[in-house]
Amino acid sequence: MQRILSPSMLSADFGHLERDTRMIDRSAAQWVHIDVMDGVFVPNISFGFPVMKPIRRATSKCLDVHLMIVEPEKYVERFVQAGADIVTFHYEATSDPKGCIDLIRRAGAKAGISIKPATPVEVLDELLPTLDLVLVMSVEPGFGGQSFIPESLDRIARLRRMIEARGCATVIEVDGGISAANARAVFEAGAEALVAGSAVFGAADPEAEIVKMLEA
Ligand code: DX5
Ligand code: ZN
Repeated sequence: MQRILSPSMLSADFGHLERDTRMIDRSAAQWVHIDVMDGVFVPNISFGFPVMKPIRRATSKCLDVHLMIVEPEKYVERFVQAGADIVTFHYEATSDPKGCIDLIRRAGAKAGISIKPATPVEVLDELLPTLDLVLVMSVEPGFGGQSFIPESLDRIARLRRMIEARGCATVIEVDGGISAANARAVFEAGAEALVAGSAVFGAADPEAEIVKMLEA
């Protein structure tokens, strides 16, 4: 299986967004993870469209946008216009996941759904054929720097079996508490893409840390 790393810009230095994005652009990481929080779906506020601009300008890599906002259907098209290559919204944040997936696809991006730690992976079974990606949260969404919830490994493995049973190509991405210490276990459980914020930007040598996680 492929191995993808998606460093989270939430842990970057917002005073040097262009510099930090260029660092990711030079690195072995394939995607750039963008965490959008509205203070309603999660108890924290991060950033929106204007902050995506300097990031989009500084890299041609895949912009992997993780929306932690209520009523995502109101905004998904604008995120595609702002340069998102993948738009992922939360299953818990909308009453019409299928409609939201269609909006993202029609706007020209890949569509993903994320689930919080307490949401069973099984709720996604019927949606799998319509999804490019499932983002399994391995911490409660809202903040960087939390510890990986160990039960997430079993959820990833269950989701991997569901995807294989349906013969889909849906990518499993995992977000929260990922480091070089657990990257191997998460890949081996069935993930193809890992998000890492504090482990990358908190490292003395972020580019080397990215390689370490990809080769874990
Ligand atoms: C949390 C965000 C994550 C966060 C990960 O709600 O979705 O992407 O930036 O940060 P770390 O890697 O520090 O757990
Ligand atoms: Zn995220």
